[in-house]
Amino acid sequence: MRLHPLRPAIDRRSFLASAASIALAPLLPGSAYAGAPAKEFRLVAVPVRLPIAGAPYPETDVWCYSGQSPGPEIRVRQGDRVRIVVENRLPEDTTVHWHGLRVPNAMDGAPDVTQPSMQPGESFSYEFPVPDAGTYWYHPHAHSAEQVGRGLAGAFIVEEPNPLPVDRDVVWVLGDWRLRRDGAISEDFNNPMEMSMSGRIGNTVTINGRVPSRFVVRSGERIRLRLINAASARIFGLEFKDHRPLVIALDGQPIEPHAPHGGRVVLGPAMRADLIIDMAGAPASSASVIDTFYQDLAYKLVELAYGDEPPLATRIAGMPSTLPANTMPEPDLARAFRHEVTLTGGMMGGMGMGGGMGMMGHGGMWAINGVAAHGHNMRPILTLDRGKSYVFAIDNKTAWYHPIHLHGHSFRVITRDGQPTRYREWCDTVLLAPRERADVALVADNPGDWMFHCHILEHQEAGMMSVVRVT
Ligand code: C2O
Ligand code: CU
Repeated sequence: MRLHPLRPAIDRRSFLASAASIALAPLLPGSAYAGAPAKEFRLVAVPVRLPIAGAPYPETDVWCYSGQSPGPEIRVRQGDRVRIVVENRLPEDTTVHWHGLRVPNAMDGAPDVTQPSMQPGESFSYEFPVPDAGTYWYHPHAHSAEQVGRGLAGAFIVEEPNPLPVDRDVVWVLGDWRLRRDGAISEDFNNPMEMSMSGRIGNTVTINGRVPSRFVVRSGERIRLRLINAASARIFGLEFKDHRPLVIALDGQPIEPHAPHGGRVVLGPAMRADLIIDMAGAPASSASVIDTFYQDLAYKLVELAYGDEPPLATRIAGMPSTLPANTMPEPDLARAFRHEVTLTGGMMGGMGMGGGMGMMGHGGMWAINGVAAHGHNMRPILTLDRGKSYVFAIDNKTAWYHPIHLHGHSFRVITRDGQPTRYREWCDTVLLAPRERADVALVADNPGDWMFHCHILEHQEAGMMSVVRVT
C-alpha cells in the first residue's frame, strides 16, 4: 500500500489483487517501478435510467458504468500504465474484463479464476501496462449475458504514439437491446431455446447507447471510425452506401488497408474494426448505413447526413499507410505445436435468426473439446509452454456462428477451411461460420489461466467456454 499513497480506500480483495500485480510488475515493460505514474480511472457499476430508445419512448432502467451506457470511454496512449478502480453498486456480483488487452493474468477479470467476483458494495483495483495500440473494450465477465444485455460495456481506446492523420476519430459502440413497449428491458435472459440457437438477439440497435437517426458529417472530411460490437449475440454486417471504407485494423490490430470483403464490414460479438472513410458526398446530401447480416432482416442503422458547409479544404487524401505493428511475438509456424479445438452442440439445422424455430428439442448445450463449462473455474483443456508457438485448429461442427475469443493473447488467423487467409490478420476473436474451420497461430507468451470461449454470451453461459493454461 505504501507504494500507492493516493489509492482510494478499497477492500481487502482489491489489495490482494494489487499485491499480485506488484509481484508481476518487474516482468512487465512500463511498470510502476519504471517510474511513470499510472493514469487513474474510476468506474462505478450501477443501475440508472437512460433514454435508450429516445422520445417518445419511455426511459429504460439499465445497468451501466458511472451513469453512462456505454460507460465512459477510456482513452490512453500506447505504453501507458493505467489504474482503474471499479466499484460494484449492482444488486449482484461482477468483474471487469479488458477485452483484447494483453494484461497480466491477475488483472483479467475472470471470476473465480483471476479474482473473486466483486460482491455488491465491493471494489477492485485493476492496474496494468497497456502494451499495444488499438480499439478495445471493457465489459463484465460475471453473468455477462445479462450484465452486458443490461448495458454494461465501454470503449477502451489506445492511441498510437503517432496517430494516423484524420479529420476526426469517432467511436461507435454498437449495442443491441431487447426492449418492451414500455421501454423496459425484457427480463427473459438466458432462455434455453435462444441459448441453444443464435443467442439473445434484441429488437433495438444503438450507437453509443442511443437509437441513432443521423450522424452528421462534413463533405471532404476523413474519419477514422472505430466500430465495437458490444452486443451479446447480434452479428453486424455493415454497408456504407455510396462510400468506400477501408479497414485499417481488426480487433485493434493493424492490417494492410483494404476494402472489406463484398463491401460489407462483418463484426461478430466483441469484434472491432477501425475504418478510414472519406466523406465523399456532396454538401447537404445523405447516405445510409445498413446492416444486412441476417437474411431478410436488413435495416437501416443510421443516415450519414452531410452538413451544408462547403467541402473541407484541408482534406487528407490517398491510401492511408499501414499502422505500425503492435508488440505480439511472431509465431514460428514451422515449429508450432498443433492442437485441435472442436466446437459442438446447439440445435441442428437452424441458420441465423428465425430459421429452425421448429427444431425444438433437448441437448441444445454447447461444448469445447467435449467439455461443457459450468462456471469459470475448470480444468484447462490445453496447457501451453510459455514462449512456444501454437496453432489452434478450430473446427465448428455446429450449425451456428461462433465468435471465439482467447484472453491474454492475440492470434493470427492463418487459414479458413484449409485455405490461407489473405491478410493473416491478428485478432482476439475469430468468427466461425456454421461448419467452418479456422487455424489460428500464436506465441503463448502470457502466463496464467486464460478463458477461451464463444462471445455469443448465451453460448458462453450454456457451456461454450474453456480455460487454456500457459505455464
Ligand atoms: Cu470479451 Cu471473455 O470476453
Ligand atoms: Cu457461440
